[in-house]
Amino acid sequence: RDFFNGALPLRGKKALVSAGPTYEAIDPVRFIGNHSSGKMGFAIAETLQNLGAEVILISGPTHLPTPPGVYRTDVVSASDMLSACSKHFDQSDIIVMSAAVADYTPLEVSDQKIKKKDETFQIPLKKTTDILASLGKRKTNEQTLIGFALETNDELAHAKDKLIRKNLDYIVLNSMRDIGAGFAVDTNKVTVLERNGGITYFELKDKKAVAQDICQLVVSHQSTINS
Ligand code: CTP
Ligand code: CA
Repeated sequence: RDFFNGALPLRGKKALVSAGPTYEAIDPVRFIGNHSSGKMGFAIAETLQNLGAEVILISGPTHLPTPPGVYRTDVVSASDMLSACSKHFDQSDIIVMSAAVADYTPLEVSDQKIKKKDETFQIPLKKTTDILASLGKRKTNEQTLIGFALETNDELAHAKDKLIRKNLDYIVLNSMRDIGAGFAVDTNKVTVLERNGGITYFELKDKKAVAQDICQLVVSHQSTINS
């Protein structure tokens, strides 16, 4: 909060942040989800707000309180999250997509509870829209677009590929190999790759401190745009 000594470098800017998991319904009582807690995205939303931005937080199902002053929209599925993000994208100067969006969703949702029957059972799935990639196609030079990448192997190569393919300014890489990083913990260890090839390796720290590191990059990127 005081790393800019109380200055509000993002005053007048609009920010859009996605956070948390998505739930993809299978039937009225079941869904496909993931272990994302939403903590990283909520910390980023709070930090951007503290730096003076007007923040809209699009949240999947989480148990987190809304940071003071942040406008929040709750969504459930990847498809809902796409609509909500898409609606606010063009008016946003800063867009941080930290949600853990499902890559696949059931081809059809049963309107009745599925009964158990055979020893094995399969659910046909179809790909969801990649929200970040679709926003990347619409991005202008005035916008700062940040994505995340969760990898277990060949981390830098995979993250770099996502950075370029999705037309991002920065990608925040989380490696599942790092102890104390990832889901359901309060700490994270990230590496940030920039569009121009720069790489910064950050230490393991509290997610709120990671959010400050990411938001400092946002401030510097926005200041180069406005100069
Ligand atoms: N993402 C998204 N919409 C999706 C899937 C992912 O917007 N349907 C975004 C995430 O919010 C994240 C980034 O894409 O910012 C990378 O997510 P990740 O799961 O690491 O990468 P994918 O491109 O989905 O590739 P894969 O899961 O195969 O590694
Ligand atoms: Ca994915």
